[in-house]
Amino acid sequence: MSSVLRSVVIGVGGFLPPDIVTNEELARTVDTSDAWIVERTGIHSRRRAAEGQATSDLAVEAAKAALLAAYRRPSDLDLIIVATTTADFTFPATAAIVQRKLGAPVCIAFDVQAVCSGFVFALSVADNFVARGQAKCALVIGAETMTRLMDWSDRGTCVLFGDGAGAVIVEPREGVGDTSDRGILGYCLRTDGAKQDLLYVDGGPSTTGTVGKLRMQGNQVFRHAVVNIAEAVVSAAKIAGVELSEIDWFIPHQANQRILEGVARRLGIAQERVISTVALHANTSAASIPLAMNQAIGDGRIKPGQLLLVEAMGGGLTWGALVLRL
Ligand code: ACO
Repeated sequence: MSSVLRSVVIGVGGFLPPDIVTNEELARTVDTSDAWIVERTGIHSRRRAAEGQATSDLAVEAAKAALLAAYRRPSDLDLIIVATTTADFTFPATAAIVQRKLGAPVCIAFDVQAVCSGFVFALSVADNFVARGQAKCALVIGAETMTRLMDWSDRGTCVLFGDGAGAVIVEPREGVGDTSDRGILGYCLRTDGAKQDLLYVDGGPSTTGTVGKLRMQGNQVFRHAVVNIAEAVVSAAKIAGVELSEIDWFIPHQANQRILEGVARRLGIAQERVISTVALHANTSAASIPLAMNQAIGDGRIKPGQLLLVEAMGGGLTWGALVLRL
């Protein structure tokens, strides 16, 4: 078996702003109830960034935690990718702001915009640098302040989202080229721009000149989610050369408990192997997967050497899945 370079996740970190917003609190300002939100989504509460706290602030905290977990310093970084749909500014990229705030050296730093699929896309992009020997220490972050994009009079969307950030450090390691290798083993990414109207933000620099608010046809998105995600998962597993029965942990994008369960059921994955944080984090878009990874590593469920499957679907529509051995 020939030696190959693999992109290995060597540290994971997360950060949630301290302000907890419960369903009951939302029900005081919009026509909803704790019972409706819990039954339809599994969400009990979400976090909200403080006034003046930007996406980059959350990203930096998650990055520091990931660097600590990986025994690395900001000076080690030569690639920073931030997956976000809630950038601090139209430009510069949030990754450039994170680089400055961390005190990282001049390096490659840019944002990836694939909405809730952003972390899966960004990790795949990082793999293309790391596994080609172009980056020796990469920081990949999913960070969002989704509460800033909410129309707080729209009960169909404002109850679903929260703020947070998760980060991973990725480095190259020699592998033998089979599925026993640590690192990213395969992924499948998809975009269908024809379905833009199902989930979008109604503003932008070259159209309205405003930031806009999130609009969603929730039941239509729901309908596509289970089928699309399942197809991408099967493709990613095939590309990685693994059977779904070998997967230790399934870490889905945390949009809705019913979608998490629906996808797992369709794929024959036992619910005990599904990491779910949606109850307390709600949908943190690109941050949700690294936050869930961080939680399950922190509580001892996910262990080094285990096989992980991550998947997401979001605005675009975008969707994708990725298999890695920790
Ligand atoms: N409280 C009370 N009632 C509500 C609420 C609420 N918060 N929101 C909607 N309703 C009402 C609707 O008005 C509707 O009432 P009507 O029958 O009188 O017209 C009824 O509930 C049913 O509405 P649906 O939208 O059909 O409800 P559904 O069961 O589909 O649940 C939900 C809605 C939770 C949004 C669900 O469709 C969903 O989770 N969709 C997927 C969202 C998602 O995964 N997004 C993906 C990623 S997000 C990203 O990429 C940024």
